[in-house]
Amino acid sequence: MKTILILHGPNLNLLGQREPDVYGDLTLDEINQRLGEIAIERGVELRTFQSNHEGELIDALQDADGWADGVIFNPGGYTHTSVALRDAVAAVNVPVVEVHLSNVHAREDFRRKSLIAPVCVGSITGFGWRSYLLGLEWYIGKLGNW
Ligand code: DQA
Repeated sequence: MKTILILHGPNLNLLGQREPDVYGDLTLDEINQRLGEIAIERGVELRTFQSNHEGELIDALQDADGWADGVIFNPGGYTHTSVALRDAVAAVNVPVVEVHLSNVHAREDFRRKSLIAPVCVGSITGFGWRSYLLGLEWYIGKLGNW
């Protein structure tokens, strides 16, 4: 069975209580659960991981290179600052899709720039928790060859 890692960056553990008007009402567990249910229906295995620490996210990306068929990555605030995470995404052989709950292009200027996006397969931004779902759909289609 194909396996996808959903990787969540800093402060996403606070979803549900963190600026719900921007990021929605669902908790991270609820998002992971919804994605997990859809993945099972579609015959894909999901693993999820969240960290507030840059180095742990880098470790997770390097580790995923050994077992994952794809990564769906919300780098949170590191999107706009982290050369090290960009280098990690570029270094691994597993494809990475960047996702954001909010539309980063419609917010503050500093959020318009992603250091991660140029080394990803693509970016999905602004669809709330369904940004992850759209990323998952892309992998399901690609891995199933349709
Ligand atoms: C975010 C957007 C980032 O700018 C922000 O720092 C986050 C969440 C999103 O999912 O919309 O933490 O990645």
